[in-house]
Amino acid sequence: MRRSLAVALGLAAWIGAVPAAEFAPVAKILAERCVLCHSGPSAPLDLRLDSLEALRAGSRNGPVARPGDPDNSELIRRLRGTSQPRMPMTGPPFLSEAEIATISGWIAAGMPAGEGAPAATAEAPRPAPGETVTYAHVAPIFARRCAKCHTDNGLMGAPPEGYRLSAWASTVSAADRVRVVPGQPLASELLRRIRGLSRPRMPFDGPPWLDDAEVDLIEAWIRDGARDAAGEPAPVPVGARVRFEGQLTGQWTVDGQPLSVSAGTRIDKRPRIGDRVEVRARVAPDGALDVTRLRRR
Ligand code: HEC
Ligand code: HEC
Repeated sequence: MRRSLAVALGLAAWIGAVPAAEFAPVAKILAERCVLCHSGPSAPLDLRLDSLEALRAGSRNGPVARPGDPDNSELIRRLRGTSQPRMPMTGPPFLSEAEIATISGWIAAGMPAGEGAPAATAEAPRPAPGETVTYAHVAPIFARRCAKCHTDNGLMGAPPEGYRLSAWASTVSAADRVRVVPGQPLASELLRRIRGLSRPRMPFDGPPWLDDAEVDLIEAWIRDGARDAAGEPAPVPVGARVRFEGQLTGQWTVDGQPLSVSAGTRIDKRPRIGDRVEVRARVAPDGALDVTRLRRR
């Protein structure tokens, strides 16, 4: 035990990292790179890394960190790749040598809590009443519930439908088709999926679904212009393709969302009010949805 502590401290000194004598710096790394998957009811192998208690409890296979013995701790083996699959599963990039040394030094030191051990996941900042909702308010929800799949090398490999929910730019991107139409929550597949209006409902590993407060917050974010963290509204994605399905609630509305149907719209299989339909449209300069195709499903 003393030898591995000395080795860990020596390595940490050599690469200039401070060996952690408290949980806080370890928690910060875990929060940034691990908690997106290792938290909540669907944590892989029941391993939660969002608090010191949870880390100590380990996975359904038992402890993953042995105080004083980092080299025989599954957590360190996963970080170095001596156990596979290497963690974080989203890597490369994997953790830097300095980050691994911080964690292994802390395990070598006996996994002390230190001063005021924090919970690794900070509570999401809630907007004050009347405050405009920005990406900073909704990003923690996407990080906790969505990014484990909707990222490169996530739980499903490539991001499903090529859709990444790991940053503002990709969340609102119009490159392929838009899933967030600023100002129009019901035209936004992202909101439709978390409300269960489009199927399959998200998160894909739910239930639990997002709670009402979270869904309302994301709806307000889109309604307020899908602003970035600095408060800049996303541009109207003129010409971008939109695709979603839902219930035809009027001529022509889907779940109350008005559609712009014209002579150029291709209408297939004679949809009637009450039917489930698939909508393909483009965003007009005024934000309207110019429907290119409407099809009964
Ligand atoms: C994209 C999701 C994802 C991320 C991010 C992630 N993991 Fe994992 N982790 C998994 C999955 C899935 C498994 C189960 C893989 C297996 O062993 O079959 C796993 C397994 C593990 C295990 C093995 C537990 C055991 O009992 O064998 C450890 C330890 C672990 N992860 C630590 C980490 C750490 C530390 C990080 C951050 C540096 C991290 N993981 C980031 C998905 C993830
Ligand atoms: C366990 C993996 C997983 C998680 C977690 C997850 N998704 Fe998905 N997501 C998928 C899969 C798989 C699909 C494709 C399903 C389909 O449409 O047939 C998908 C599709 C989507 C789509 C449709 C994309 C398109 O262009 O058609 C949106 C929007 C979406 N997810 C949003 C979310 C949001 C928001 C969350 C978090 C609240 C979330 N997802 C969590 C796996 C996941």
